[in-house]
Amino acid sequence: ARLPALLQAMPKAELHIHIEGSLEPELIFQLAERNGVRLPYASVEALRSAYAFSNLQSFLDIYYAGASVLLTEQDFYDMARAYLRRAVRDKVVRAEIFFDPQTHTARGVSMETVIRGLHRACEDAQREWGISAALILCFLRHLSEEDAFATLEQALPFQGQFIGVGLDSSELGHPPEKFERVFARCRALGLHRVAHAGEEGPPAYIWSALDALQVERIDHGVQALKDEALVARLARERVALTVCPLSNQKLCVFPDLAQHNLRALLDAGLCATVNSDDPAYFGGYINDNFLQVFAATGMTAAHAWQLASNSFEASFAPEADKRAWM
Ligand code: HPA
Ligand code: ZN
Repeated sequence: ARLPALLQAMPKAELHIHIEGSLEPELIFQLAERNGVRLPYASVEALRSAYAFSNLQSFLDIYYAGASVLLTEQDFYDMARAYLRRAVRDKVVRAEIFFDPQTHTARGVSMETVIRGLHRACEDAQREWGISAALILCFLRHLSEEDAFATLEQALPFQGQFIGVGLDSSELGHPPEKFERVFARCRALGLHRVAHAGEEGPPAYIWSALDALQVERIDHGVQALKDEALVARLARERVALTVCPLSNQKLCVFPDLAQHNLRALLDAGLCATVNSDDPAYFGGYINDNFLQVFAATGMTAAHAWQLASNSFEASFAPEADKRAWM
């Protein structure tokens, strides 16, 4: 079969998707209207034309502004349902979805509102469309350890409704070890742990995500190739990297997609996966990421099967489900 058809049709897991980054401009305007929120953009087109980024921070500023329209449980439900519907079309059979509660609780939205809306969307999608979906609570690393601990406390009454914790937002200047004690507590609670590391930051941040935070996966991790000893460790321990090609292109981590190192990561024996990160902002959902990075780098059907298999291996789904998908 043609490679694009294979990429689109193959079952896959998506392990790196920020639900607030799936909020399309049309839905931002619809929710702004519904909630009486004033936006600093005149139209959907004006907002979309502001999506020209030079680095991670230039994206985060506009991403947090977009999330300001989310107020009610129904808003969080509608956002997650739209993403899950789209993921099903891309043959995603398992989605592990990041959310950023501090972006919402800082505006007076309760933790309960956020988690209940997202979790109900996951349950309904599983029942109606058969997709397996779970939530991962991310701490914002530009905020303090104290704020992260307070956020964890607020989330504990809903511990059955998320499977793990992550670490996102501005990477440079906020190394993983800032959250060592928070992650130790999460580990003791039996939560899965992941962290963004080596997106813009150095290989040292990947080392400390592994050693100080004891994470089970690295989000992005594309800077790992700069450190031979790190590559050897990631390969030996089968630590997955959740790579996001279009995100890396749009945030200028690589000058263009043809320079992306996904193929080199796979050829080095690493458990790399393909994901969309913030699909509404970076110009594509998971299959767009597969199609464009394969076209730009000349990867083959063997790489495609490896990436799909890696995505299931790296997922936190029950082992019986993983075996059935692989
Ligand atoms: N990196 C860090 N924080 C984020 C990202 C990302 O790619 N997407 C949403 N929050
Ligand atoms: Zn991310």
